[in-house]
Amino acid sequence: MHLHRLEKMWLAIGISMLAVFLIVLGTMAFSMGIQPPSEHHHTIDPAKVTETAPFDKPGFQLIGDRHYEAAMVAYAFGYDPATYEVEAGSTVDFTVTSSDVVHGFSIVGTNVNMMIVPGEISHISHTFDKPGTYLILCNEYCGTGHEYMKTTLVVK
Ligand code: CUA
Repeated sequence: MHLHRLEKMWLAIGISMLAVFLIVLGTMAFSMGIQPPSEHHHTIDPAKVTETAPFDKPGFQLIGDRHYEAAMVAYAFGYDPATYEVEAGSTVDFTVTSSDVVHGFSIVGTNVNMMIVPGEISHISHTFDKPGTYLILCNEYCGTGHEYMKTTLVVK
């Protein structure tokens, strides 16, 4: 294949611009410590979830007037603690991690939807104004029991 001298020059310019952009992007990402977005970036040793607070005692704790702190562990194939009851108007601060593989944490009918990655701690808060039984689902394929991975939060 014969390439004209100008075509070769044009190709060389294009390839070097691409290289420059990738080098700049890579250097920036590392030097600025760019990571996936999270309100607070916390990590955990995924092999020691059951020994690390607050996941050594998963559960809901009342921390104020209709304000709960929930430490939850996602595992194949469920959530610890399982179902829980709060009164309508409650705000729940969820702190969730995984003890094995990547799971989802999605509360149907709300905008709560997180990816639960082993080694990472995910946070989200939600105020449950309407009473009802809220379904919490895993929406990341995590194995043969994935479709059974769910729990509920009852708002009275
Ligand atoms: Cu856990 Cu799908």
